[in-house]
Amino acid sequence: MAAVTAWRCSTLLFIGLSMIFSADLERMEVKVGQNIVLPCQAVGDIQYVKWERVNLGVDCVLKHRRGEVFPDSLHPSFENRAHLQDRQMKDGNLSLIIREVKINDIGTYECNVMRSFGGNSTRNIIDLHVSVPPVFNFITAESGQDVILPCRAPDSNVKYIGWTRDDLGFDSVYRYEDGHFRPVNQHPSFKNRVDLQDRQMKDGDVSLILKNVTSNDAGTYLCKVIISRAHRSDLISSIYLVVDPPGPPKPRPGDEWMVFGVGFALSLCLVIAVVGFCTYTYRLSRGPNANRPHQTPQQLYDLRTGCRLETSKV
Ligand SMILES: *[C@@H]1O[C@H](CO)[C@@H](O)[C@H](O)[C@H]1NC(C)=O
Ligand SMILES: *[C@@H]1O[C@H](CO)[C@@H](O)[C@H](O)[C@H]1NC(C)=O
Ligand SMILES: *[C@@H]1O[C@H](CO)[C@@H](O)[C@H](O)[C@H]1NC(C)=O
Repeated sequence: MAAVTAWRCSTLLFIGLSMIFSADLERMEVKVGQNIVLPCQAVGDIQYVKWERVNLGVDCVLKHRRGEVFPDSLHPSFENRAHLQDRQMKDGNLSLIIREVKINDIGTYECNVMRSFGGNSTRNIIDLHVSVPPVFNFITAESGQDVILPCRAPDSNVKYIGWTRDDLGFDSVYRYEDGHFRPVNQHPSFKNRVDLQDRQMKDGDVSLILKNVTSNDAGTYLCKVIISRAHRSDLISSIYLVVDPPGPPKPRPGDEWMVFGVGFALSLCLVIAVVGFCTYTYRLSRGPNANRPHQTPQQLYDLRTGCRLETSKV
């Protein structure tokens, strides 16, 4: 502990001295999980280089003296992730490489170069912002269901969660701040209907449960999260919720009987039609006299002429 304090003191002293020298501010942006090179270039006989992140207290990223790292100077959060581009510091390339950037790497970084006595000291300041690429989801639900709106923060140490819907203006769906749910500006339709899926927010899970959805809940939900004070509110997740998607209409109770009735009537008509048709064709095939029960030769007609046959006594 004492060593850390001593180190911090010396760092503060160093920063104080460095203030005298000119410094440029450079802004850099990187996405979570990517690698980044924070540039720093110096000329001359370099004694040592110290990379610091200064906005969250005084964190030293690493300290280097001509190929020699000061192991206890490496901040634990950068262990196995940060190293100088060239450990030998040849050609004055003192760029810092950070691998697999985390959301907590956000901050202002300073490269402080100390030369041999009498030489220049230089500083390079880089404002690093780490962004989280948003995830887009499409969810459909039916009235009365409970829906989970997914959102995963890049860190479990969440300071702020803001769930909103894009048509609600300043009203919120759910808001969490400094360890508590805050019902400020909560739209009345969400009262007692929303909660975090996991209040422990394990692995940064800040998904929201929306209970008993209705068609009024349809819309685009946005999840914004703040991890640390240096981190600005980032959109993490956007969910397009559709309630009761249009589809084939489902039969209501009682409809079955109607369907059955119509079907039965149609079948009956068909049967009647078929029977009628058959009878008709049968009669045709038998000719116009087919119905006459007791045909006598005198009553026979010539089918071709329609004339009564004259002589037909048998
Ligand atoms: C220093 O090293 C980094 C990482 O390899 C590289 O991107 C950068 O161009 C180098 N700078 C100079 C001035 O050579
Ligand atoms: C000091 O730095 C300036 C610019 O950074 C450079 O032009 C000058 O040569 C340096 N002097 C020495 C002694 O390194
Ligand atoms: C769900 O909401 C409807 C009105 O939208 C209400 O009638 C019903 O009681 C609610 N169900 C539950 C379990 O809260």
